[in-house]
Amino acid sequence: MNQEFIWGAATSSYQIEGAADEDGKGLHIWDVYSRQPGMVFDNHNGDVACDHYHRYREDVALMKEIGIQGYRFSISWSRIFPEGTGKVNEKGLAFYDKLIDELISNGVKPYITLFHWDYPYELYQRGGWMNPDSVDWFAEYAKTVVEHFSDRVTCFITFNEPQCFIGMGHVTGRHAPGLKNPLRDTFLMAHHVMMAHGKAVQAMRAVAKQPILIGYAPTSTVCAPDSDRAEDIEAARSLYFQCPEKPEEWSWNVSWWSDPVMFGRYPEDGIRQYAPYLPDIRPEDLALMNQPIDFYGQNIYNGYRVRQGGDGKPECVKRSPGYDKTAMEWPVTPESLYWGPRFLYERYQKPIYITENGMACHDMISRDGHIHDASRIDFTEAYIRELLRAREDGVDIRGYFYWSLMDNFEWTEGYRERFGLIYVDYQTQKRTLKDSAYWYREWIQNHR
Ligand code: NOJ
Repeated sequence: MNQEFIWGAATSSYQIEGAADEDGKGLHIWDVYSRQPGMVFDNHNGDVACDHYHRYREDVALMKEIGIQGYRFSISWSRIFPEGTGKVNEKGLAFYDKLIDELISNGVKPYITLFHWDYPYELYQRGGWMNPDSVDWFAEYAKTVVEHFSDRVTCFITFNEPQCFIGMGHVTGRHAPGLKNPLRDTFLMAHHVMMAHGKAVQAMRAVAKQPILIGYAPTSTVCAPDSDRAEDIEAARSLYFQCPEKPEEWSWNVSWWSDPVMFGRYPEDGIRQYAPYLPDIRPEDLALMNQPIDFYGQNIYNGYRVRQGGDGKPECVKRSPGYDKTAMEWPVTPESLYWGPRFLYERYQKPIYITENGMACHDMISRDGHIHDASRIDFTEAYIRELLRAREDGVDIRGYFYWSLMDNFEWTEGYRERFGLIYVDYQTQKRTLKDSAYWYREWIQNHR
């Protein structure tokens, strides 16, 4: 395949920027949630984070040093619209102007995520995703961003991991705003999120200053076949797209979040299983969700093995004792980057970007001043090799973004977990490239 392939790294606004109350930024739900005692590990919050808002030049210089070709970052909605809607904050736009110009002049291609969970607090108080107006609020914000930046930026992603901000924010309550809403309400929120995606796509295309590429970035836990037997491959594929039978587990599913966007319909098994909780699904809502997009982004971290069981149904294979896992206790399953993209491409037939993949390690600065994160290097190479195998087998993969460029605020885990290629000392804000950053530099040089 001859299409451009981007080796990149990713971050998000609240996780790195800091400057939580500067230059007219409004409050968002993560500001409020993490300032409340007891919500985040050791009461950490993102008030300062990596202070990227003031150190973005240094951070772009480090990207250049690593040789990163693309940088995926998110815009903080409440920097642009302090109240979520209405009056635009010019200083918010100015920060991202400077960042984008710096990236471009250093040869790093910007990829903008519009929403990576920091929902304006004012809008949350007006009902947030429960409010049907949330569709227009997001479209207005998306339009403003594209109108302003599309002279220089051509790749935009609407939502990052809707599964998480609805599933963890409103079903399990482990993320901001920390609620356990009735299931019926959570299905309505998801419905509005997907309508907001569609309306934003329309608004973005209407104002773009040049042709732009628009994508969507859900996540998934991949089902990989336990063997290369056709029955096991089929079992893995069907389980991957199946809607969980237990309604309270609905929010992690792939097809519930993607079939409406990609096909304009909800999956039938989900409609049957979740019938008592579903909102009124109007054909015009589905048509709005189903706007043509240019690529399918997918955040993939891990998965499990599946085989055909004795009764002919797919079954998950129990992990072996002592299986490999990351500091987050997430299993290490490189084959997820083969089977995930392959199944997703078969179903949705869109170019794929791996918008996030990476691991948290127990990194520390050794006495020699370096950070020897050998397991991150091993993890990343193993995953990437599987991704390239999928590409060789015909899956149209356009890029890979390591999560994350630098250590940062890992939501409810605070600063306990380190995902970065760059080590951040949060006391001094000193950045140090880890061994994995040097490894990635070499990898990129050899695989341009
Ligand atoms: C998914 C999220 O998009 C990102 O914000 C988070 O830090 C990583 N995965 C790691 O958990």
